[in-house]
Amino acid sequence: MFEYGDIILQQIEKEDLEFVKEIRNHYSTWKYLTTIGMFSSEKQNKWFSTITESLDVNYYIILSKEWKKIGYVRFDEIDWINRSVRVGADIHMQYRNKGYGKKVYKLILEFCFNYLNFNRAWLLVMENNEVALKLYKKIGFRTEGVMRNAIYRDGKYYGYIMMSILKEEYKND
Ligand SMILES: CC(C)(COP(=O)(O)OP(=O)(O)OC[C@H]1O[C@@H](n2cnc3c(N)ncnc32)[C@H](O)[C@@H]1OP(=O)(O)O)[C@@H](O)C(=O)NCCC(=O)NCCS
Repeated sequence: MFEYGDIILQQIEKEDLEFVKEIRNHYSTWKYLTTIGMFSSEKQNKWFSTITESLDVNYYIILSKEWKKIGYVRFDEIDWINRSVRVGADIHMQYRNKGYGKKVYKLILEFCFNYLNFNRAWLLVMENNEVALKLYKKIGFRTEGVMRNAIYRDGKYYGYIMMSILKEEYKND
């Protein structure tokens, strides 16, 4: 368990899978992700076995200070030599636009830079994901470039924007 601000991060357990599936299968979530959602419980169980065995992927459940499940965080593309990690978070539909996204990203950066000793945290965001883009810029992520027409969704191609923040740019205010 890791606590920062009033957000708690907890290792994902099998009993969290239904909650994760509910978020992941919702159109408002997967319309902004690389792969289209709609995972069955069986697929979800297989996925859980894969991530449990992997050293390069870590999933955590986000809890509020009242211990309510708010969403999940993932760390993947973990590179321990170059101290780089890809980060991501999805908030449950019920808890969006309440300021949790900002709190969660503050926790993610604190954990990555001051506990796991990463030097670079990066992410990918679709060019039409205005809420996420606004959030990442506010938190201190900078744009590195755009993978042009990388995502096909809703009958159109969208650019996938790569953003990053370095440890030296991070301020835990
Ligand atoms: C993107 C996401 C993580 C943001 O989390 P959140 O808890 O909804 O965001 P917050 O409430 O912290 O808001 C962050 C900023 O966006 C603004 N915002 C939030 N929802 C908004 C909306 N629907 N319209 C306009 N602005 C919005 C907030 O006002 C805030 O800006 P401010 O600091 O200037 O007030 C969350 O909405 C989510 O999981 N979305 C679906 C999946 C997704 O897009 N994942 C990210 C893929 S890269």
